[in-house]
Amino acid sequence: MSATITSIAHYLPPDVYTNDFFAKYLDTTDEWIMTRTGISERRFLKEGATSDLIVPAALECIQKRGIDKNEIDCILVATVTPDHNFPSTAAVVQNKLGIESCWGFDISAACSGFVFALATAVSLVESGTAKKVLLCGADKMSTIVNFDDRTQAVLFGDGAGVCIVEKSDDASKGVLDKLMFIDGKGAPYLHQKAGGSAKKVSHETVENKEHYIYQDGQAVFKAAVVGMADVSTEIMRRNNLSSDDIAWLVPHQANLRIISATANRMGIGPEKVMINIEKYGNTTAGTIPICISEWLSKGLIKDGDNLVLSSFGAGFTWGSIYLKWHTNGIK
Ligand code: UT7
Repeated sequence: MSATITSIAHYLPPDVYTNDFFAKYLDTTDEWIMTRTGISERRFLKEGATSDLIVPAALECIQKRGIDKNEIDCILVATVTPDHNFPSTAAVVQNKLGIESCWGFDISAACSGFVFALATAVSLVESGTAKKVLLCGADKMSTIVNFDDRTQAVLFGDGAGVCIVEKSDDASKGVLDKLMFIDGKGAPYLHQKAGGSAKKVSHETVENKEHYIYQDGQAVFKAAVVGMADVSTEIMRRNNLSSDDIAWLVPHQANLRIISATANRMGIGPEKVMINIEKYGNTTAGTIPICISEWLSKGLIKDGDNLVLSSFGAGFTWGSIYLKWHTNGIK
């Protein structure tokens, strides 16, 4: 038995912020941001929370699948910007959607959130624990970005991708392999200093801006280049996939240079790599499902296409999923 994605949709807030927006008040330029990251613009949600990014995408996803919302029996939300520390954003989404009876929970794996959550959804479906999982990868990064710090203000964006995971009617298609890792030795290089039980919020932590992202960009960059390329080539090796066999690499969108390094190691040309970082920046758990949803709506993914999803993020977390595209014939 295998499980597959039968429907997918995404939501990006309408307000666009170009590189020139930042260049007006920070010591930065469009040229630096483009050459160092590949980002040209990003979206920020002015009012509302992460669940407000998820709900429009979820409604479209359910509508495309052609089911009653009450057929969803589990909701997973991958995010590092939950509406609240508790209750879970999954519960908030369930309530906002008005689903009468289901269960669910949040998954915290930063930029690998969607990959880890997809692996979890697949296991729930394959074990018979759930039939139709509403899987959401979403972040409102603008709540934890320090907009006075040029080293992070320009990198992130807000957005959500939502899909439904259920049993594949063809066991040779769907999610065929998954390979994931965490290594807490990466924590010093990318984390939020205050706001958790390790350091509760105080006047002092707020004054010191410790509720924002802390990132040692170069250290994360070096680890990401190695981690994402290693896991992607390993999933190719153990599934006997050559670069010719792969229709699309779907990489996490943190930096165009990390994406290119991964594609190079896999022997994959840029024409087979999903890249939209220039439009949306790094939406953390949102990047991979937003890519798939966009490419599918442009008619660029066909039944039976081999997709390799790859991510690297805070933790460190990293992973890869081999997905042979199949929607059970659902349009
Ligand atoms: O998705 C979660 C995982 N995160 C990642 O994968 C991010 C990985 N890291 C990166 O993508 C890159 O390291 C960054 C884009 C964050 C930074 O690029 P970099 O090429 O590694 O730059 P750097 O940190 O080595 O900084 C080089 C210089 C510094 O100036 P000095 O010290 O040489 O004078 C920075 O202060 O560039 C400066 N700089 C900027 N200059 C203009 C940093 N940010 C900016 C900016 N505009 N926005």
